[in-house]
Amino acid sequence: MSASYELRGQVAVITLNNPPVNGLGYETRKGITDGLNRAEDDPQVQAIVITGAGKAFSGGADIREFGSPKALQEPNLLSVIKAVEDCSKPVVAAVHSVCMGGGLELALGCHYRVAAKGTQVALPEVKIGLIPGAGGTQRLPRVIGVEPALNLIVSGDPVKAELLAAIPGQRLFDQVVDGDVLEAAIAFANEVAGQRPLPLVRHLKAEHPNPDGYFQFARNTVRAVAKNFPAPVKCVDAVEAAVKRRFDDGLAFEREQFIALMMTPECKALRHAFFAERAASKIPDVPEDTPVRPIQKVAVIGAGTMGGGISMNFLNAGIPVTILETSQEALDRGIGVMRRNYEAQVKKGKLAQDKYEQRMGLLSTTLSYDDIRDADLVIEAVFEDINVKEQVFRKLDEVMKPGAILATNTSTLDVNRIASFTKRPQDVIGTHFFSPANVMKLLEVVRGEKTAKDVLATVMQLAKKIRKTAVVSGVCDGFIGNRMLEQYSRQAGFLLEEGCTPEQVDKAIERFGFAMGPFRVGDLAGNDVGWYIRKRRYVEKPHMRYSKTADLLCEMGRFGQKTGAGWYDYQPGKRDPIPSPVVLEMIEKHRKELGITPRKISDEEIVGRLVYALVNEGAKILEEGIAMRASDIDMVYLTGYGFPLWRGGPMCYADTVGLFNVVQAMRRFSKNPHDDAQFWEPAPLLARLAAEGGTFN
Ligand code: NAI
Repeated sequence: MSASYELRGQVAVITLNNPPVNGLGYETRKGITDGLNRAEDDPQVQAIVITGAGKAFSGGADIREFGSPKALQEPNLLSVIKAVEDCSKPVVAAVHSVCMGGGLELALGCHYRVAAKGTQVALPEVKIGLIPGAGGTQRLPRVIGVEPALNLIVSGDPVKAELLAAIPGQRLFDQVVDGDVLEAAIAFANEVAGQRPLPLVRHLKAEHPNPDGYFQFARNTVRAVAKNFPAPVKCVDAVEAAVKRRFDDGLAFEREQFIALMMTPECKALRHAFFAERAASKIPDVPEDTPVRPIQKVAVIGAGTMGGGISMNFLNAGIPVTILETSQEALDRGIGVMRRNYEAQVKKGKLAQDKYEQRMGLLSTTLSYDDIRDADLVIEAVFEDINVKEQVFRKLDEVMKPGAILATNTSTLDVNRIASFTKRPQDVIGTHFFSPANVMKLLEVVRGEKTAKDVLATVMQLAKKIRKTAVVSGVCDGFIGNRMLEQYSRQAGFLLEEGCTPEQVDKAIERFGFAMGPFRVGDLAGNDVGWYIRKRRYVEKPHMRYSKTADLLCEMGRFGQKTGAGWYDYQPGKRDPIPSPVVLEMIEKHRKELGITPRKISDEEIVGRLVYALVNEGAKILEEGIAMRASDIDMVYLTGYGFPLWRGGPMCYADTVGLFNVVQAMRRFSKNPHDDAQFWEPAPLLARLAAEGGTFN
């Protein structure tokens, strides 16, 4: 049983006990109703307290049950709440720590609620594309008012119990206590044991002075912000029902919306992303209890674009950092950028002045390796040149204390080769941060051939501490993200040759939901970066065809925003892309040289070619074992490349379209005379899954 029962005088205490957060799985739900029945049958019992063991009252639905028949098995949560409401003896919820989703809905079904100060209260369903489905949208407005309830439901974010208890006229909490909440709730239960009738939230009214105006306003606002997500607007509809309908009608309406949302592709994609994030931290051959190495001091080599941002992550987490550079000038420049970055946050009110000073106080700089030898982790972020990396790693091998983790931030070089520059390849690992490194969520953790398991486990745990989403990648050119992106970029180039403008391609993929199209990204990141990599490819992979337009652009000195011009023109100091006649002329001229007559290309074709280019390479990466699972690839694209969250990542999207249909589209693209003939050869894994009717995820 995942709920226990004990008698405390005349009060029966039902304690949810389903670690880690007392999720309301079948056994726990059954435990509650069994406890209620036992308390009803025992004449000695005058009142009942429901509480949670350990670190939560309840975090809500048990996510391990998602999608299984157990989730629906009676008693479902609605039936449990009904049983609580129908109990003839007063039921008091003693909430503490975490009271979220179904946990809050359960508490709202109780006759009284006593909360511990600091309890995090939330209805977070909207974050996985749903609305609360067990009365949350109907009961919460009745106890804290319509507007505060809608704000809580639409945002899904937690609010502390004492803040909610401060809302004038609120009926959510009967008491908020500082000390032992269970003792307080038992005392409260004794006090109210004899009171009748028992108060029920369903009997209260949810009122608003101007419901029509308010809900219209709320709906417009939410629609504008939540464009591609259906759930937030449904939250507004459901709360409106709480105001305008009878309680049971409102409850039925909420249930209908909940079930309809469950089936939408957006909800499936959000659920997928939710589970994908959890799965990414699990490595089959590295058990979760693998001992980790303590990381108390970090050193970063190089104070450039990446070194500074990487350092900020550790400073923000309270871990001291020493940055090593080749000159005082480079150090000063790098530290200056970090300071300006923090100061901008202070100015915007996102960071307190004393916190900023505290963080900078954890930073030291040096020109000497002597000062970093006792660091537990060193991250190299010097120029992307194998000779410079070799020099740095040979030196690190010489000076660093035994057991120190030696990490490289390389984006394209061979981590195994870098490891071979040392006599301790087991301690070497890739930590591929994304720019800006203090902002971007993604961290590709590159597992070298010889990387020790505890090194990998340490870095994965550290990633959580610095609030990154870590995804493990094997060693290959470009790792997961950039290797796939290369195929996407090649297609973008071919599209220009065949008749598209940069703007047309960008707009099409942005309408699909990408934060930015490939050409705008190029202008932002610097087109010279890709140019440099392609020049290497022309030598290493002469059989691979690339469109030459991007090279011609760079030859014109149009590196992007930093040079004031790229695929687009830019007004001085502005970032809005303006289509460039010069670039269009260059593209047309190049087409003529290739003998291509431009054709009109549909948005559907643009999106299909760009996204399936990712999918096909993703399938190869999966098959080669570079990625451990398809959902890891999705996480990389959702957190590092602006792939629309509501589509769940490229592999999830391909599953939604159907792999058979993906392969059919690829067959059509392969008939195109100007494309690379081999490009659309389906990866063996994709071909097999499509034939079997399978999916990646
Ligand atoms: P950067 O050119 O901005 O900075 C490199 C810094 O390293 C410079 O300040 C330089 O003075 C310093 N440096 C060079 N040799 C050194 C040595 N022997 N010892 C100490 N310091 C040395 O380069 P960036 O962009 O920060 O890139 C660094 C690394 O991160 C590269 O491996 C790059 O491929 C990788 N990377 C870059 C990304 C980006 O968007 N810029 C994204 C992900 C990875």
